[in-house]
Parts: sequence; C-alpha cells; structure tokens
Amino acid sequence: MTLRLSVNPLQPDAGIIAQAAACLRAGGLVAFPTETVYGLGAHALDPDAVARIYMAKERPATDPLIVHIPSLEQLAPLVTAVPPEVVALAQRFWPGPLTLVLPRHSRVPDAVTAGGPTVAVRVPTHPVARALLDAAALPVAAPSANRFSHPSPTRAEHVLQDLEGRIDLVLDAGPTPIGIESTVLDLTSTPPRVLRPGAVTLADIQTILPEAVSGTGVEHGGGAARSPGLLDRHYAPRAPLTVYDGAARDARMRADAERARAAGERLGVLVDTDATALWRTRADVVIALGPTGDETAAASRLYAALRELDDAGVTRILACAPPERGGLSTALRDRLRRAASGQVIHT
Ligand code: TXA
Ligand code: MG
Repeated sequence: MTLRLSVNPLQPDAGIIAQAAACLRAGGLVAFPTETVYGLGAHALDPDAVARIYMAKERPATDPLIVHIPSLEQLAPLVTAVPPEVVALAQRFWPGPLTLVLPRHSRVPDAVTAGGPTVAVRVPTHPVARALLDAAALPVAAPSANRFSHPSPTRAEHVLQDLEGRIDLVLDAGPTPIGIESTVLDLTSTPPRVLRPGAVTLADIQTILPEAVSGTGVEHGGGAARSPGLLDRHYAPRAPLTVYDGAARDARMRADAERARAAGERLGVLVDTDATALWRTRADVVIALGPTGDETAAASRLYAALRELDDAGVTRILACAPPERGGLSTALRDRLRRAASGQVIHT
C-alpha cells in the first residue's frame, strides 16, 4: 500500500515531513515534489534502500541516480574534492535545477553511481524537498518517480499511476513548477559538458565556466556511456510520437495528420493554444501546451500532456518543436526529440 499525504507546497506541515523523513531513515521509498519533477527518494548511503528504487522503477542497474542534499555544506562527504568552480556554480545556481557530476567519494554506494567513478548531486529548491532533506538529515538518492521509460511525473497522480503499491509514501504538493528535469553538468570531463539540458541553460553556466559545452559527447566516444540515462527511447508515451521542426512544420504536420486519420489512426496532437480551434476538426484529441512562444508553460505541461494522450487511447501523436532560441527552448526540444525516440521531421 502506498500512502498519499497532501502537503502545502509553500509551507509543508512539519508533522507530515517528519513522518516522511522517518520513512527515509528506515530505508523506505518516498516520492516527493521538486521544482522540476517528482523524485523517488531513498537513503543514498543505504545500498538496500537504493536497490528498492531500481526494483520499483524497473530501472536498469546501469543508470546512475542523482543524490539530493539540502545545501552545499553537505557536498564534501560525497565527493573527493570541492574545487572553487563548484563553489561558484553552487553559489549561483543552488538551490535550483542544476545537477553536478563530480568524482565520487568511496562512501557513496555503487548502487547509486551504477559502479562508476562519478556521482551526480543537486540541491533542489522546492520547499517540500528542502524541508524533507533537512528533516531526514541524509543524502537522498532520487530519480524521477516514474517507471523506466515512462514520462517523468509532474503530479502525485502520475507517481501513483506508475508506482502505486511499490513505494511507501508520496508527498502530494500539486503540480511541479518547471515540469522537466534538471540540467546535468559533467565537471569530470574537459571541457565541462552539459549532458542533459534543463532550466539552467548552457549560457547561464558559461557565465561561470566560459569553456563549458553542450552535447552528450556521443561524437567524442562518450555518449550513452557517460550518462546511460540519456538513451534515446526515454520519457516516451505509449503511442508513437512524431515531432515537426523547421519553417514548414505546420503545413507538413497538417498533411501527415490528414493521412494518419485517413488510415484510421486515432490521432492526438500537441499544439499552441492559439491553434486549438484549427485542430479541433483535424485530430481526435487536441492538447494545448500554452501560448505561442511560451516555453515555460509548454515545459510545465509537456509530460502531463503525454500521459493524457496515452489515457485517451490515441494511436499516433504529432507535435511541433519550438524554434531553437536559447532559454527553455533547448530543453523542450531535447525532451520532445527523446519522447519521439528521434522521430523528428525537419522541414
Ligand atoms: O530534475 C531532476 O534531476 C529530477 C529530480 C527528481 O531531481 N531527477 C531526475 O533523475 O531526473 P533521473 O534519474 O530521472 O535522471 C538522472 C539523469 C540520468 O540521465 C542519469 O543517467 C544521469 O542523470 N546521471 C546520474 N548520475 C550520473 C553520473 N554519475 N554521471 C553521468 N550522468 C549521471
Ligand atoms: Mg528519469
């Protein structure tokens, strides 16, 4: 049985937080909101507790976890050193949606790092996550609280859809504000490399580390080996998704929509709010991601929209990618491409 406890997202009840913290200390699994997505937490220094995360999620043991701590002061015991650039990044971006990959201390279990020489760490800013980390007084390993390869959960309902009966507790604080996962920055490679784009952008990072670059490093022989969680089939809905990119994307998407319905597909589309009227007669399920150009709205709605389309039983999903123009557009384009398993049509 999974217990669901509602908490105020801004001022979480201390009694509920204490209950969740006790569960973590006892080796239990607690799903909790962060500013990005819901995480599935376990005591990071307890290998048995960490093993339960992999079982609940059906996650391959080769995919390492992010360790969550309440502040920079708790970083030192997890890593071999805290160099000045880490302090500078932390002062600028923590608490917040930036994960740092650093050389791991030997006390971090193999189960957390997937046996690798590095550990990923972040300090979340969501008041519920912060209260929980403070109360538990331990590092908390927490991947997104979804089953492996499902879209990340942005609401407690999504956590329960995937993990009901497999975890002890979910703290329900409503929808998570950002909606897509943290930026992952690898500081063990030269130059430092953004392995996963997020709300902290490469340009933001370059204000501290001008030499930082983006990309998983596939082109340098790193790639999936550097961050196994960045495999292409990820964050995926059940129905196949096609993403349209480039100047003629709307026209091409409309033409393909017509063909798909003529072939008997039950069609779902993700579109800008302004385009919903136009799509009403052209698709079976129309989901608005937000006003044109509002990537903040689109990011916060994307994963819930993919789950809604699955629930509505669509057999095909079509979506347009926002143009690349920095900010959240980079992360949004990345998640759309992954959700589409690389099925992107460039017009
Ligand atoms: O926003 C987030 O980061 C959320 C919330 C819950 O904090 N967590 C999250 O965790 O997205 P997860 O496990 O779904 O994604 C972690 C990503 C994976 O792609 C994983 O491969 C990568 O971080 N990662 C973890 N440890 C790593 C390491 N030592 N080296 C390289 N990549 C690592
Ligand atoms: Mg995940």
